[in-house]
Amino acid sequence: MCGIIGILGKTDVQDRIVDGLSRLEYRGYDSAGVAIMSGPKVAVSKAVGKLANLKSELARKPLLGRVGIGHTRWATHGAANTVNAHPHRAERVTVVHNGIVENHAELKSELMANGVVFASETDTEVIAQLMNVALRTSSSLDEAFSNTLAKLVGSFAIAMIVDGYEDVVLVARNGSPLAVGYGDPDQTGSSEMFVGSDALALAPFTENVSYLEDGDWAVITPERVVVRDHAGSEVAREIQHVPVENFSVDKGPYKHFMLKEIHEQPESLARCLRGLIDHNTGTLKPFLEDVDFLTADRFIMVACGTAYYACATAKYWFEEFVGIPVEIDIASEFRYRKVPLTGKEIAIFVSQSGETADTLSALKNVKDRVQNVVAVVNVTTSSIAREADAILDISAGPEIGVASTKAFTGQLLSLLGIALKAAHERKCLSDAQLSSLVTEISSLPRLITETLKLEGRAQEIGASLAHATDAYFLGRGILYPIALEGALKLKEISYIHAEGYAAGELKHGPIALIDEGVPVIVLASSDELSEKTQSNAAEVAARGARLIEIGCDPLEPNHLKLPEGPDLILPFMQSVAVQMISYYTALAKGTDVDQPKNLAKSVTVE
Ligand code: M6R
Repeated sequence: MCGIIGILGKTDVQDRIVDGLSRLEYRGYDSAGVAIMSGPKVAVSKAVGKLANLKSELARKPLLGRVGIGHTRWATHGAANTVNAHPHRAERVTVVHNGIVENHAELKSELMANGVVFASETDTEVIAQLMNVALRTSSSLDEAFSNTLAKLVGSFAIAMIVDGYEDVVLVARNGSPLAVGYGDPDQTGSSEMFVGSDALALAPFTENVSYLEDGDWAVITPERVVVRDHAGSEVAREIQHVPVENFSVDKGPYKHFMLKEIHEQPESLARCLRGLIDHNTGTLKPFLEDVDFLTADRFIMVACGTAYYACATAKYWFEEFVGIPVEIDIASEFRYRKVPLTGKEIAIFVSQSGETADTLSALKNVKDRVQNVVAVVNVTTSSIAREADAILDISAGPEIGVASTKAFTGQLLSLLGIALKAAHERKCLSDAQLSSLVTEISSLPRLITETLKLEGRAQEIGASLAHATDAYFLGRGILYPIALEGALKLKEISYIHAEGYAAGELKHGPIALIDEGVPVIVLASSDELSEKTQSNAAEVAARGARLIEIGCDPLEPNHLKLPEGPDLILPFMQSVAVQMISYYTALAKGTDVDQPKNLAKSVTVE
């Protein structure tokens, strides 16, 4: 969840480290810090809150030096204050860390019993203190690092510099991602080297990146990167070319990344569609070719947060088109369940970042016990993608706003594509039926463009919600998970308490919460369930609720009228509508839309 970066440069690195941190701030913004090797010694600067505060600090008191590490924190152990901000120091050792050292309490007690004094409340400081002790008892820097790592239990990505070792950055990965970037070598064979939580952070510096695997640790010098596995054997990790143009992180004319990403959906969905369907022939393109859809006896879909709601939506499509059992679960639960498996399941793990710790762990738990493991991701070089048998790229492009928008609709479309492919291969859909559905799906970018034209109305509705303390989203059938997603969107960026309910469930308890003026956002369908949802809406209206209806043919005056389109496209249009309403509510409230409090974009801790 935290972001880490390190640079072994040929010129001063402070500004480049801060630039890298600005690309990692989506991982956490409780505090930020840098440590720069200045001669044989290390100097540290830290600030609580956003990176802007660290920038001011560094403008006041710059740090000079060509080797350094940086960190942006999402607090786990210890409050968000300067003392707990990374980098952490223990005499000669300076470290930044992403993850959780699970045995930190035990290690800390042992160290304290031996006279070590701790400055912070963090688990991270244990790493620095252990290394400092190991340096006294080991014959080399490598040995000290290896001995330190051997004591750690939990998940971590670490970058470390040590006073007196002016041209070395030590790194390690176990469960949290870490990429090593390679600069161009000069005539002497020495290069600038980089390390970061992801390739995005390194994009301005290099396009040549390798990914450490779990258990790997590396000693990085200007001449070479020596990577060793958990057993200490030297290993090669492939250097991949990651083009810089893939990483535009500009807000363009938009006030927030979230608004930009909402508006990018016609384009991101068109890109996703190009990977799934052949518009000319009305058929599916080849994708997930190694997945055996014929012999599978069940689909399992696992994810967290918004990605889980994409699975919950897709379950309706899998059941309708494929007709074999579908199980969905949130990854933090699934990973600890004793799920009975036949070995014939297709397990699909959905993640925008591809780094979500719970989803990754859930995947690893079942990987060897199911027929196929599919990753539906937005980052094809991510840990989840690398662990899976097969990858489907949602092609949304970088999503920077913490609230997921274009990734959600990309996940929906990708899962719909998988459902249609499975159904067609299993002969549940004829060629003609498939072709007709493909035609319907082809209208998606156009209908989303039309939906985005409702922005003015969404803004009025958003402004009207700004003073609400509670809000409810109702949906039936496939719109029930969209109601859950709408509530998540609203609560995470506007901090209004919001809940999504299956429209028919409200009368079994939650209706007790409905009072005069409470906003209830009804996601209306145009199918056979439509009238039932309208009855449920009438039930809450009768108890004083302020109805806001979103649909193609809404009945209430206070509504958002979506464009006419096929039922298959309705969940997408409804999603975009609730994204816009949530955005404009947050805007009216003046909250930090792109970096809401307490959240981080990529959740790499359990
Ligand atoms: O990167 P992932 O898709 O695995 O992330 C999963 C969730 O953390 C994420 O969807 C989260 O719920 C978003 N903030 C929702 O907007």
